[in-house]
Amino acid sequence: MKLFDVYPLNDIEIVKALESTVWDADGTDYLDLYGGHAVISVGHTHPHTVKRLTDQLHQVGFYSNSVKISLQNQLAEKLGQVSGKTDYQLFLVNSGAEANENALKLASFYNGRKKVIAFKGAFHGRTSLAVSATDNPKIIAPVNETENVMFLPFNDIGALENAFAESGSEISSVIIEGIQGVGGIREASAAFLQTIRSLCDQHDAVFIADSVQCGYGRTGLFYSHDVAGINADIYSMAKGMGNGFPVGAISIAPKFKPWYGMLGTTFGGNHLACAVSLAVLEVIEQDNLMANAASVGDYLITELKKFDKVNEIRGRGLMIGIDLPDELASVKKNLLYKHHIFTGEAKPNVIRLLPALNLTKANADRFLEALAEELK
Ligand SMILES: Cc1ncc(COP(=O)(O)O)c(C=O)c1O
Repeated sequence: MKLFDVYPLNDIEIVKALESTVWDADGTDYLDLYGGHAVISVGHTHPHTVKRLTDQLHQVGFYSNSVKISLQNQLAEKLGQVSGKTDYQLFLVNSGAEANENALKLASFYNGRKKVIAFKGAFHGRTSLAVSATDNPKIIAPVNETENVMFLPFNDIGALENAFAESGSEISSVIIEGIQGVGGIREASAAFLQTIRSLCDQHDAVFIADSVQCGYGRTGLFYSHDVAGINADIYSMAKGMGNGFPVGAISIAPKFKPWYGMLGTTFGGNHLACAVSLAVLEVIEQDNLMANAASVGDYLITELKKFDKVNEIRGRGLMIGIDLPDELASVKKNLLYKHHIFTGEAKPNVIRLLPALNLTKANADRFLEALAEELK
């Protein structure tokens, strides 16, 4: 049997990882500023997450949502506290797409409506409705096509107001990343997020804050949407939550009332996922990682803005986009193969930095030196 070949791969096999360093099979070390796509939040093989997971595995690794799993309650308590949304409710799933799928579904159960507003450049995942709300026709299969999703220009307050004026009573939800990741590190303006909040309030629509990539402390705020001083109705999250263990969730405002069978999943909220998610939050809190993400992120952004060959530097905290001109298309590849630094990318030529939240200033300097050499 062969693998279903859908991923263009770098010819590197990672066999060991610690903090922000990974090693390949030949023993070469790499600085990881990508975190396997924003997933490694507290550093590779963090001893506290490893211990929590291993201890839990020796106790009980899995039982389904048919028995009490008090680790889920502990996680809800901790997440409420660290995110500052103590009166929200937690529903646990396994991935970002599943989190968004459930958020959109819950919104529709809540107001009985079908229409979803999403934005140009958005990425919300690959399951049925999440992919329909993703602005990439190439990955939407015919079976996922729906008239129910409308794409509006990002950060365009007028277009949003018009859409609500025209069909406000049909709109179930508005889904938005605080910072578009796949879309190239583009931040929603505070005014735009505030407008979404007030239009959703006026029309009884649900505000879904997709925090799968930009959340979990990455920007120095727990949810990057917090920058606008508003509360969304539902926050979806996944990537950084388990530091590599597959886990996702939605955090749900108190106005949503559950009923038995409304949402469900076999694996979501299993013992291992909860144990590791608790460990991640404990490390974020104990090591002040949101403050570190803000300060090392600020440092990087300030230094990156000094490079004159760069089109634009975008982002917040440790979610940074380096928008390069077309003629510098080989920089990302050179960073990896010449300087041994993993970064992410977005089309057409944006380097995405999504490192662990405990990235050090020394790590940042190693990257800045390598980039300086490439941009010389
Ligand atoms: C903003 C955003 N939402 C949702 C997803 C989907 O997450 P997953 O791949 O875990 O399904 C992603 C993944 O890149 C994402 O960046």
